[in-house]
Amino acid sequence: MPVNTRDQVVLSGMRSTGRIHLGNYFGAIKNWVDLQDRYRCYYFIADWHALTTDYSDSSRIAETSLEMLADLIASGLDPERSVIFAQSLVPEHAELHLLLSMITPLGWLERVPTYKEQMRELANRDLRTYGFLGYPVLQTGDILLYRAHLVPVGEDQASHLELSREIGRRFNSFFGDVFPEPKALFTPTPRVPGVDGRKMSKSYGNTIDLADPPEVIEQKCREMFTDPQRARRKDPGRPEACNLFQFHRLVSPPELQERVAQECRLAHIGCVEDKKLIAERLNEFLEPIRVRRQELLQDRDALLDVLHEGSRKAKERAAETMDQVRTAISINYRDLR
Ligand code: TRP
Repeated sequence: MPVNTRDQVVLSGMRSTGRIHLGNYFGAIKNWVDLQDRYRCYYFIADWHALTTDYSDSSRIAETSLEMLADLIASGLDPERSVIFAQSLVPEHAELHLLLSMITPLGWLERVPTYKEQMRELANRDLRTYGFLGYPVLQTGDILLYRAHLVPVGEDQASHLELSREIGRRFNSFFGDVFPEPKALFTPTPRVPGVDGRKMSKSYGNTIDLADPPEVIEQKCREMFTDPQRARRKDPGRPEACNLFQFHRLVSPPELQERVAQECRLAHIGCVEDKKLIAERLNEFLEPIRVRRQELLQDRDALLDVLHEGSRKAKERAAETMDQVRTAISINYRDLR
């Protein structure tokens, strides 16, 4: 018998460290949108997780979170079909994080590959903090708090998910079965390059944001890297080695992809023209999202109401889990009555 997937809880989150870019959209959000009708979906803005790296200046986090909410809804997340909320509006995240921190061996955290990697990459910040080491414990709390079954994330989150399963198992083995095993749901997403050809990432400063106005898109497309071997206009190009062509894969219909690939190989189309084409396609794709986002941001109170209402719904499930957790660890004064 097919299981009713509406019983399955999907949970995922995104740190509010800046505007949502195409890498976030194609790497995560598009997938989140697609899951909405099949599962009970919980999606949240990880504002506390933003603090783990940006703690010395937190002044923009709440504002960024609100903008992110507008981006998410404009991208197709629907507060009627999914529970959309902010981590800090459900303080149970902090409570579960604390309890999980008690049973998490330090060695497990020090071994997480993203830990050393990020320390190296963000060398300009002091990440030798308690909170940063505990990042994946907080993430585990996020997941287990909703007793989530599926966690749609990018491949870069694989080690965090593995740790979440280990911590959940350890909790269950000490205190009894409370948490189901959360499985990562990786989406086969095309690699989204940044304008410089490296992976699109805010820390590289190479993003195309959902909110970028048309002129900015055109400018960024003009600056895009192309096939390095195609030095002159009359040289034949190699779409498969061209950064620009990856964008066609994301936003152009198959016929156009085909035609551009062919004309590029024959040097019938040049990189400059192709950049204009890409800018047009990106703008066509982004325009409805930009419009919707602007509309939403014009009524901040309404947007905040959406966030609070989602957080209230999230809290219902979170409170239920915490009651079970407190009973499991035998620190539930309700049980002493
Ligand atoms: N660490 C995730 C990222 O950087 C964001 C995140 C925080 C998350 N908590 C989560 C993702 C819980 C999935 C589930 O993308």
